[in-house]
Amino acid sequence: MIAPGLRVPRERGEEVRRALRGSGALRTDLEIAREADTIVFPLVEGASVPDGVGTPAPFEFRPFGPAGPSGYRDRLAWTSDAKALLPRSFDVVGDIVLVRLADELRPLRSEVGEALLGFVPGARVVGLDHGVQGAERRRSVERIAGSGGWRTRHRENGIEIEVDVERAYFSPRLAREHRRVASEVAEGDRVYDFCCGVGPFALTIARDGRARQLTAVDANPAAIELLRASLLRARNARLVEPVEASLESYTPSAEPREKVILNLPLEGIKYLPSVARTVAPRGRLYYYEVTPRTDLERRTEGVVESLGPKGTWTRADTHVVHPYSPASDLVAYVFERGRA
Ligand SMILES: C[S@@+](CC[C@H](N)C(=O)[O-])C[C@H]1O[C@@H](n2cnc3c(N)ncnc32)[C@H](O)[C@@H]1O
Repeated sequence: MIAPGLRVPRERGEEVRRALRGSGALRTDLEIAREADTIVFPLVEGASVPDGVGTPAPFEFRPFGPAGPSGYRDRLAWTSDAKALLPRSFDVVGDIVLVRLADELRPLRSEVGEALLGFVPGARVVGLDHGVQGAERRRSVERIAGSGGWRTRHRENGIEIEVDVERAYFSPRLAREHRRVASEVAEGDRVYDFCCGVGPFALTIARDGRARQLTAVDANPAAIELLRASLLRARNARLVEPVEASLESYTPSAEPREKVILNLPLEGIKYLPSVARTVAPRGRLYYYEVTPRTDLERRTEGVVESLGPKGTWTRADTHVVHPYSPASDLVAYVFERGRA
């Protein structure tokens, strides 16, 4: 398959791979090509590349075979029936690998952990992911290989995020959405990031420096503490005001905002009417909800009704962010408020 390819000398391969992965420029559905003295990286169309490493040119890449990231399975001397139960994918957060396992494989979790630890470059610890719980969406994890705790520094879209996978919510599956929203922020926009977690939306928007003001609100004290730690090294950190508060207790400023994000996918709907009131005329609201796959159109109508008086809002975009379960997706509903 033809895609933009960035050719670099082999000795610079690892450095460039990290930079491209961090900025979200590297395609993960195509194989990196290795030639005699050079490596060719497959890039996302239109992605920018680090200074001084050349210019992308079209290149014929091989798509990942069915193995892809599930290549770790080759490290296990198991029967093919047992291997068929293994997940095809896993998450990498900084130097932590998170994997979910079918109940039948739990007794073999250490073997899976060791296989992943050897397979994922730079991995320090592997955690069995028992999912997120409670209002703060904290993740329950069990170490199955490697060593050390759950705090790490994750890179995405050219920013560094302090993460503690147990104490505050973070998902690397939202990286593209963080970038997408940041790209829509215009010069001088004022932004609310409600339910900001450890602040990836706010940090990505701050990176670009176009926003005039960014307020990031979350009820979990650990999330706000981690955001503050990221801000110590972030670009344009002065633009971001982290606020530890629940949506119930927070009083928004009288001034409306041009961009407002609400990312609380299972219960955000109850806050939507009050959050919608903080959006400026011609401003945009980015609302996220887990939606049954067969229900997208009907749900869009339902969401717009919760926003306020009919005719005030127009639908700007609805898109799937990522699959959530076999029958549902995390969906982004983007609405624009009409003129005052
Ligand atoms: C899905 S996570 C946020 C993810 C984050 N926006 C991101 O992109 O990584 C939802 C967040 O909402 C916060 N939260 C839950 N209920 C809340 C409430 N009533 N008020 C404020 N924050 C709340 C949780 O602490 C959690 O960090």
